[in-house]
Amino acid sequence: MNMNVLQKQDKEIFEAIAGEIRRQTETLELIASENFASRAVMEACGSVMTNKYAEGYPGKRYYGGCEFVDIAENVARDRAKKLFGCEYVNVQPHSGSSANMGVLFAVLKPGDRIMGLDLSHGGHLTHGSKVNFSGQFFEAHTYGVEKETGYIDMNRVEEMALRVQPKLIICGASAYSQGFDFKAFREVADKVGAFLMADIAHPAGLIASGLLNDPMPHCHFVTTTTHKTLRGPRGGMIMMGQDFENPLGITLKTKKGIRTKMMSEVIDAEIMPGIQGGPLMHIIAAKGVAFGEALQPEFRTYAEQVRRNAAVMAEKFIGLDYHIVSGGTKNHLMLIDLRNKNVTGKIAENLLHEAGITVNKNMVPFDDKSPFVTSGIRVGTPAMTTRGMTGQYAERIVELIDRVISAANTDRIEQVCAEVRVDVKEMCEGLPLNDFGPTP
Ligand SMILES: Cc1ncc(COP(=O)(O)O)c(C=O)c1O
Repeated sequence: MNMNVLQKQDKEIFEAIAGEIRRQTETLELIASENFASRAVMEACGSVMTNKYAEGYPGKRYYGGCEFVDIAENVARDRAKKLFGCEYVNVQPHSGSSANMGVLFAVLKPGDRIMGLDLSHGGHLTHGSKVNFSGQFFEAHTYGVEKETGYIDMNRVEEMALRVQPKLIICGASAYSQGFDFKAFREVADKVGAFLMADIAHPAGLIASGLLNDPMPHCHFVTTTTHKTLRGPRGGMIMMGQDFENPLGITLKTKKGIRTKMMSEVIDAEIMPGIQGGPLMHIIAAKGVAFGEALQPEFRTYAEQVRRNAAVMAEKFIGLDYHIVSGGTKNHLMLIDLRNKNVTGKIAENLLHEAGITVNKNMVPFDDKSPFVTSGIRVGTPAMTTRGMTGQYAERIVELIDRVISAANTDRIEQVCAEVRVDVKEMCEGLPLNDFGPTP
C-alpha cells in the first residue's frame, strides 16, 4: 500500500499502520469475525467520498452535490439485493450494532420484551445483553443451547416464547457453529405475534453463496455486518426479503391523504434521522465493491473453502482430544472448550499470540469462568482462506495450535511459542493478504 504522503506528514500514525501491516502479514489470523478486504475495497474506503455529506437517501438528500455518491449507494443497494435475493436493503448502518439498533428502535417501544441467544451461549451483545442498549431499553429474555448437545432446541425456544410473549425474536450468533432453522423460528414468532429478525453478521458470505439456510423467505428483517465472511469494509446493513405495510400504526401524511408507511420507510427513517446522521459514503462505495466481488463465481469457491477449512480443522481438533462445542461445525468457525486441557481461554489466547497465532478467548456454554478469563477459544477460517490457505494448511495450523496448548503448563512453553512463531512466519511467507483479482 502506498503511504508516501502519510509517511512524510505523520510518523506516529504511519508507524502504527506499518506495524499493523507487518502483524497481519506475518501472523496467522484466526479471529472468526475478521477478514482481509481486497485492494479495490480499500481504495474505495480511502477515496474522496469520505469528504461528502449526504444525509438522506439517493434522490432525496438534504445536501447538494450528491450525484456521484447517489450512484455509489444505488450500486451498493442493487448488488446487495441481487446477492441476497431481497426486495429492500439499507446500506447506511455504520456497523452491525447500528443495523440491529435500527431494527429494534424501529419496531419496539422502551420496555418491550425481546428474545435472543444468550451472550455466553454464542449470542451477540445487541441481542439483549444487560450491558448493551438492547438489554437496557428492552426487557430481554435469552435462550441458550442444550448442555448435552450444544445445539439450540426449537422446542425450548417455543416454550420460552409462549411464556415470555416477546414482540421481537432475534436469531443469529457470534459463536455458534451450527446453522439456524429460520423456518422453525418464524413458526414460533407467528405463534406469539412477534417480529423475527435474523442477524447473519457472521455467516453472511456463506449464506450469500447458498451454503447455509436462507433467512430471507422467513424473517421480517435480516441484519448483517459487511466485514466478516462477506469480506467487505467494516459496516452493517438491514434487509427485508419482502417489504410490507407496518402493523405498528405508523402513518405518513401525503398530498393524497394519510397512508400507512411501508416497513422500508419505517426502517429508513429509523436509521436516518433516528439513530444516524450523515452516511459514510466512502464505506458505502466500498460495500458496493465488495458485493460486486461476492457476486462473482470465485467468491462461492472461496466460501466453500472457508467452510471446508473449518470442517477439516474441527475434525483434526477432535482427533487430538479437543472438545468442540456442538461436536463440529457447519460454518466458518468453531468454539473449543479447553477445560479438559487445563488451560483457560485467556491463557490460550495469550500463548497463541506469542506464537504468532491470533484467536480470541470466548465463553463456552455453561462456562464457570468470567468473560475476562473464559474456558474457551473461538477459531475461524475466513481470513486464512482469503490468503489462499487450503486443507493441508488447516491441518498444519491445528498441529501448531496443539503444540502450544499441550506445552502450556510446562517449562518448555516459551521455547515452543518461539519455535511455532518461526513456523507461522514461514507459512505466511509468499501469501499476500488479499490477492484475489479485479472487481467487475
Ligand atoms: C452476530 C453479530 N451481530 C452484530 C455484530 C456487531 O457488529 P459491529 O461490531 O460491526 O457493531 C457482531 C460483531 O461481532 C456479531 O457477531
